[in-house]
Amino acid sequence: MSRKKISIIGGGQIGGVLAQLIALRQLGDAVLFDIVEDMPQGKILDIAEAARVDGFDVNLVGTNKYEDIKGSDLVIVTAGLPRKPGMSRDDLLVTNAKIMQSVAENVKKYAPGSIAIIISNPLDAMVTLFQKVSGFDHGKVLGQAGVLDSSRFSTFIAWELGVSVKDVNAMVLGGHGDTMVPLTRYANVNGIPVMELLERKYGNAAKAKEVMTAMVDRTKMAGGEVVKLLKTGSAFYSPASSAIAMAESIIYDEKRLLPVSAFLKGEFGFKGYYVGVPAVLGSAGVEKVVELTLDDEEKKLLDSSVKAVESLVADMERLGF
Ligand code: APR
Repeated sequence: MSRKKISIIGGGQIGGVLAQLIALRQLGDAVLFDIVEDMPQGKILDIAEAARVDGFDVNLVGTNKYEDIKGSDLVIVTAGLPRKPGMSRDDLLVTNAKIMQSVAENVKKYAPGSIAIIISNPLDAMVTLFQKVSGFDHGKVLGQAGVLDSSRFSTFIAWELGVSVKDVNAMVLGGHGDTMVPLTRYANVNGIPVMELLERKYGNAAKAKEVMTAMVDRTKMAGGEVVKLLKTGSAFYSPASSAIAMAESIIYDEKRLLPVSAFLKGEFGFKGYYVGVPAVLGSAGVEKVVELTLDDEEKKLLDSSVKAVESLVADMERLGF
């Protein structure tokens, strides 16, 4: 099997960690592109000089030329401004839409056969715009958000229950914003419902519910919590790791079932929008959106989350994108 070529557009905080993770895992040859002169070259030189110590051997290129992404199997887009304290992801719309437009045009030109994973925020709108401008098949464009939101939710559950996070399964659906929908009913520790474990821990259902609600709220605000602490920029280790999980499933055709921003063609009752839903990721990209039974409350939450995405996409279109 020849080595895959993975290009990262945007060599900032997330881009740098992505390049290092690709190298450490020998996922493929990596190209780190940025418009800032010399910076991606410097980061790649730094990462490459750790190869002997870390024991990886892949080709790494830092560049300011889009030609270098030619022949990419996978493109991961992180280009765009991150949030500052007090900002919502949606506040980034205009700035990042301009950037995404130029990125999509260049990926279309230089890497037309690639699959694109978008990380830039506001996520669901940026995925929509990338697909529109590139004209790529909907299944070949997907967004990273749900894997990270789910990982955050799982982390809080593990801390609360005092169990290994490796045994926690929890999923977050919907748009990547304050309206995201952590699925509390389906959250489990090796098959045991988290709600049951909380009830056993606290001895009453009301307290268990209160603790779960606090974890759900923390999950929804988790990105903002990091922004507030960092003061400059937003989370970058966990978004990069989450995109790598998606990239691995695509590159190795693992068919993992992961929550990602995927295009809906009627699934969950929605049509024509990119929203966070469980999907099977394989060598063709998003190979299948997997539906699951939602109760009335969950449906209502997903509905309002999709409405938030719809209105953001409408704003973006009104602005001419
Ligand atoms: N083409 C390519 N890269 C660009 C462009 C462009 N037109 N415009 C800006 N960039 C680059 C910047 O030069 C910068 O290096 O995108 C990079 C973004 O990196 P950071 O500012 O460090 O942001 P990061 O934390 O990596 O987040 C990137 O992901 O999670 C989202 O909200 C986050 O939208 C943000 C994105």
